[in-house]
Amino acid sequence: MTNVPHKTSLPEGIRAGNVMRIRGIVPDKASRFYVNLLCSDEKDSEAALHFNPRLDESTVVFNSLERGTWGTEERGKGIPFQGGQPFEVLLIATQDGFKF
Ligand code: GAL
Repeated sequence: MTNVPHKTSLPEGIRAGNVMRIRGIVPDKASRFYVNLLCSDEKDSEAALHFNPRLDESTVVFNSLERGTWGTEERGKGIPFQGGQPFEVLLIATQDGFKF
């Protein structure tokens, strides 16, 4: 178990069919947290995926960041995360995008 912020690299990149498993514990007082799949190591890197559970809005926001600009948000229904509780997310890469 590592603390946040946690950064790791995917030397082989991401290909259709890859499944990423992200496990953690939602901090007790957190209202939001995120997992970003970044495109480079630069500090202003684009993000292929921004996965952003928002407990304060009871929703999960999905987006991408291209050339410093957020794309069109997609929002999940409901919020399967709870402060202080462990979670596991499976991120599946497909030809058409990510599935959860
Ligand atoms: C913005 C927020 C960013 C990011 C983005 C996703 O409102 O400031 O951190 O979550 O939404 O669309």
